Amino acid sequence: MAKTYKIAVIPGDGTGPEVIGEAVKVLQTAANKFKFKTDLTTFDFGGERYQRTGETLPDSAIEELRKFDAILLGAIGHPDVAPGILEKGILLKARFELDQYINLRPVRLYPGVETPLKNKGPQDIDFVVIRENTGDAYTGTGGVTMKGTPHEVAVQSAVYTRFQVDRCLKYAFEYARKFGKKARGRGEKNTLALCGKTNVLTYIYGLWERAFHEMGQARYPDITREYYHVDATCMWFVKNPEWFDVIVTGNMFGDIITDLAAITQGGLGIAAGGNINPEGVSMFEPMGGSAPKYTGKNVINPLAAICAGAMMLDTLGETAAAKAVEDAVMWTTANKVRNLAAGQMGYSTTEVGDLVANKVAG
Ligand code: IPM
Ligand code: MN
Repeated sequence: MAKTYKIAVIPGDGTGPEVIGEAVKVLQTAANKFKFKTDLTTFDFGGERYQRTGETLPDSAIEELRKFDAILLGAIGHPDVAPGILEKGILLKARFELDQYINLRPVRLYPGVETPLKNKGPQDIDFVVIRENTGDAYTGTGGVTMKGTPHEVAVQSAVYTRFQVDRCLKYAFEYARKFGKKARGRGEKNTLALCGKTNVLTYIYGLWERAFHEMGQARYPDITREYYHVDATCMWFVKNPEWFDVIVTGNMFGDIITDLAAITQGGLGIAAGGNINPEGVSMFEPMGGSAPKYTGKNVINPLAAICAGAMMLDTLGETAAAKAVEDAVMWTTANKVRNLAAGQMGYSTTEVGDLVANKVAG
């Protein structure tokens, strides 16, 4: 009997519903082709619902989301809602409550896609960032006193526990062993690089560095270990992206370096991420925001959402279907959509979805 995956779909705000529509189209084509079924349930969490009801992501919704095999998310962010409310109330709440402790960000320049990096091509821009997704400055530890006075004090603490660091490192080492450059036939070794700031954040990145080497020495001697400060990482991402294979880092640095990495792979039209709980429910999303000014115009690029769908399939164990979708995206960028920017693709949102879906259908 065909396997059925229960998938929660949260289209969200702005152009979220448009890109999710195309991701679902491709998903369903892949399901037909690869003989599995999807059982989709759509949730209306986002800015509109918040304005109507004052609710972001209620606790009852978290309990409901736990029952799904995966979550596909469009975009969160509404021009009439103050920054922070929806991000914290929906996106970060889901990540934290569902303990999605890995943020997986593949950075791959697909054929035909323009990169702002001079003289770099798909051979050079091909690495993965594993961002810890539950700790650091994101925990909300801190506060403000004497607010509004000249003596106002604001504290926002970066927090890491050994447990958080170890479980993230374990995922990263395992990932490097399975999908590093050697494992993929792209190099002579599998490398895991820790990106930190051991020269200033001596407590937090001291912990990361010790845990990194201890675990690597004891259990992953086959994986080459490297270390880069975060500021240097930014330089090398631009100058020598080909040096990188798998990179592991904390939540805040991961947030920043993955935007830099995204622009080198063609920007937010193509960059996708997975919020992964290896033991629970994971959530996949295009990295771009809700892009309100393009809403309803059928011009936004759906490829990032489609790639998020491919990552979801991969995580669900439908690896052949995931590869077919990624290959179809690569075919689309190589042969059809040469400019990934909204409104400049030469095709509408739905046409791009059709191109990918038809290629998957074969
Ligand atoms: C991301 C985003 C989020 C983050 C925001 C929207 C809260 O920038 O997924 O990278 O900072 O994690
Ligand atoms: Mn970010």
